[in-house]
Formats: sequence, structure tokens, C-alpha cells
Amino acid sequence: MTQDTSSDVVIIGAGVSGLTAASDLRRAGLSVTVLEARDRVGGRLWTQVIDGATLELGGQWVSPDQDALIKTLAELGLETYERYREGESVYVGRDALPRRFTGDIFPASPQTQREIERLIGLIDDLSSEVDPAAPWAHRRAKELDTISFASWLSEQTDDEEAQDNIALFVADAMLTKPAHTFSVLQSLMMASSAGGFRRLVEADFILDRRIIGGLQQVPLRLAAKLGDDVKLSQPVRRLEWSESGVTATTDSFTVSARFAIAAIPPVLHCRIDYQPPMPRAQHQLHQHLSFGLVIKVHAVYPKPFWRDDGLSGTAFSPYQLVHEAYDNTNYEDTRGTLVGFISDVKAGDVLSLGADERRRAVLESLAGYFGPAALDPIVYYESDWAAEEWTRGAYAVSFDLGGLVRYGPILREPVGPIWFSSSDLAGEGYQHVDGAIRVGRETAAALIERFAAEG
Ligand code: FDA
Repeated sequence: MTQDTSSDVVIIGAGVSGLTAASDLRRAGLSVTVLEARDRVGGRLWTQVIDGATLELGGQWVSPDQDALIKTLAELGLETYERYREGESVYVGRDALPRRFTGDIFPASPQTQREIERLIGLIDDLSSEVDPAAPWAHRRAKELDTISFASWLSEQTDDEEAQDNIALFVADAMLTKPAHTFSVLQSLMMASSAGGFRRLVEADFILDRRIIGGLQQVPLRLAAKLGDDVKLSQPVRRLEWSESGVTATTDSFTVSARFAIAAIPPVLHCRIDYQPPMPRAQHQLHQHLSFGLVIKVHAVYPKPFWRDDGLSGTAFSPYQLVHEAYDNTNYEDTRGTLVGFISDVKAGDVLSLGADERRRAVLESLAGYFGPAALDPIVYYESDWAAEEWTRGAYAVSFDLGGLVRYGPILREPVGPIWFSSSDLAGEGYQHVDGAIRVGRETAAALIERFAAEG
């Protein structure tokens, strides 16, 4: 027996995007029901205590230009603190030797460093020409969307270490897919959505601050204000729609509404039985988008031992299993936490190992940067979002070659009464919490206008 209810808007998904839209709609006097598949809110934001250590299993960092997120943090009374960054960073190059450095350019040979600088300038200039909300409008969009980022890089330079370093910022660190699987245009869009390619290179900018208590506080506080309008453990199984409204069905609820917002990653639309089915273009669009693969590893130590050695905890290498690592020590915690990331093919390979072997490989990789003390954490945890039924990858979805130009323009186009909202669909703030909030607000604003127009 399902319980019948009705509201002005039904929102599918209690991630930060859906909850932002729901909050704005309610503030405008409209009624909402938020249906969430999981038994918790937050989606890709999840702050958990694991073996006594508070860990950010999903998104966590805020950068100074993320105005939408910063505004929400202020509204919710959340405070931030700076990521620890004193001391030297470590780079491991092709020779497998750790080298200390400061600044953003890795200490490769002087010739490779010059090549890296030149490529950063080149990509930064190109990314400044791309509107992240409409990358397909760039005059060379079609051409740039058919060339893989890897082939394009190899055309720009013969220096393989420079190519590997540049690819690290987009492929490993952001899209979490091999650089031969996505286009130059997708890379430029990614860079421009974050304020330009130079920003992606500046770890101290893009990974600037964290939230006291964890970033999941944002969806938790938004949901608390919405109270009973948020229903947990309610995967939407079916959505019937016509021009005049929708009916969403879960195992326990049937919600009728004038509009629906599907605030879910686009790859999950196939889990909902849309009646009538989505139009052909949407079916195609959803098949040209996919999540990348990344494992976020957390290692907690009795103290942040690397700091005593003059190290910041920041480390990079296109050649190591863990391609980037940071000091992730919690606010006012005396223990020290390192966080590391393993992307795409390396993640796939390491996931095929047994848990003990994988842990050993990950910790050896951290020890390659920070020394043997990294081998013995008191808490160790791997966030594996690809294994999560209601996400299926991280950090966000991106297009295959040619998909951005072909299907990008309809990404956010509503289908009858169904609207779409998620960080995957954002221009500015794409694949970040900031983008999820922006799209949530814009979707709510558009619907508020529609209600006003319909009287
Ligand atoms: P999200 O996926 O969070 O929410 C969608 C919701 O829909 C989920 O709760 C899901 O359960 C639900 N759902 C799906 N299907 C459903 C159905 N049929 N019925 C009902 N509910 C359904 N960002 C950032 O700004 N800084 C950072 O440092 C990071 N780092 C980072 C690390 C890791 C490991 C991850 C996984 C992600 C990040 N991110 C990040 C990205 C950031 O977390 C992400 O962009 C947003 O949280 C996405 O929010 P959305 O609301 O768009 O989707």
C-alpha cells in the first residue's frame, strides 16, 4: 500500500542540488516533497565517523570564487578553516625519486618546467575563450570536441613528462578518466568552469578551505529546515508525466505534483521508469555521459608526522598509484590525516586486488612521498563511489568524444513538466558543490516564474 500525497513540486534526490531547489521553492511559498533513495541526505557529500575518525568520504573543499556555496555556508551559519599547507610539497617524476618543491610548478628538469609553463599558458588562453555554460558555442567547438585531450597534448609537445603533468590536472584530478577518452573541448569547459586552467593548477586556490564539522552539514541543515517534506529510503521507481503534471511513485509513496525536478546524476535516469518514456534525444544524451572512476583514500596517524619533516602533506605524481595527496587533518584535531586519490585505470587495476594487498599498495605509494611513517596509520579507509548504487562513480559525469557539442545544448532543457538539476549539468562550478547549488537555484527560480505565470 502506498501513501498518496501531493505538492506543487516533487524533487527526486536529496543531494545538495535538489535540497537547494526545494528550499528556494518553499521560501517562495510553494509546497515540495523531496524523495531520496538513500537512508541519508547529501548524495556525494557524506561526512562519517570511521573507527573514531571523522572523514569526508565525498566532497569537502571550497575555493574562494565559489560564491554560491559560500553564500549558502553563510546562510546556514557554517564556518570554514584553511587546509594546512605550510612547508614543502613533494613531486615524484619519471625517475621515481621524490623531490621537494614550493609553488605550483613541479620540479622536473628546467626544460620540462618551461614546457609545462608554456602549455599552462596555452590552455589557460583557450579556456578563457570558452563559456562553461555553452562550450558548444565556441567557434572551434566541433573540431575541439572530436580531438582527445591526449592526442592534442602530444601534438603540442614531444616532452612526455610535460604531457603527463598537464594531463594530471584534468584527467586524474578532475574528470578521473584517461586523457584519451574525453575531448579538448571537455577539458577547456572543465577549466573554464573553475575560472581558467591556471586555477586547476593552483592547489592552494582550488582546495583552499574546509568546513568545520564537514561539508555534509550543508545538505543536513537544508534538510532539517525542510523537515517532513524530505522522505528518506524512497527510490523513485516510476514517473508518470503529461503536460499538466507528474506522479512519482516509490515503494511507499505516490506523489502528484505540477512539476518534477530530477536532481540526480544523469546516468541514473535509466533507473526510473518514465511513462511515457523520455524523448529519443534524452535517451541518447544519457548514453554519451559517464562517470569517471576515483578512489579517495584516508589515512589517519597519531600525529601529522610529515609536518615535523618540513612537509605540507601536498604531493603529486602522474607516475605514482596515488597521483595527489594532501594534509586533511580535521579542525583542532591532534591526529594527522592524509588524503590521497587514485584515478581511472590505476583505480580499476588496484580495485582488482584483495583488500590487504590494495591497502599495502596505497600506503607504499604514500610512503614514497612522505617516508615509511606513512605505512602505519591508525585508521585507513577507501571511499569507493563507483560501488555506490545511487551514484556509480566520481566526481561527476562528462561526455565522450563529440558528445558535448552534440548533446550539451539539451542537458538542462526540461522535458514537459520534468526539470533537471545537478552539479553534472552546471556551467560555472561544474562537478562541484558550487555548481550543484547554482543549478538548484536557477531551476527553482525558473519554476517560481512558471507558477507565477500560470497564476
Ligand atoms: P548528488 O549525487 O549528491 O545527489 C543526488 C541524489 O539523488 C543522491 O542523494 C541519490 O541518492 C539520489 N537519487 C538518485 N537516484 C534516485 C532515485 N531514483 N530516487 C530518489 N533519489 C535518487 N565537490 C566540491 O565542491 N569540492 C570537493 O572537494 C569535492 N570532492 C569530491 C570528492 C568525492 C570523492 C566525490 C564523490 C565528490 C566530490 N565533489 C566535490 C563533488 C560534489 O560532491 C558533487 O558535485 C555534489 O555533491 C553533487 O551534488 P548533486 O546534488 O548534484 O548530486
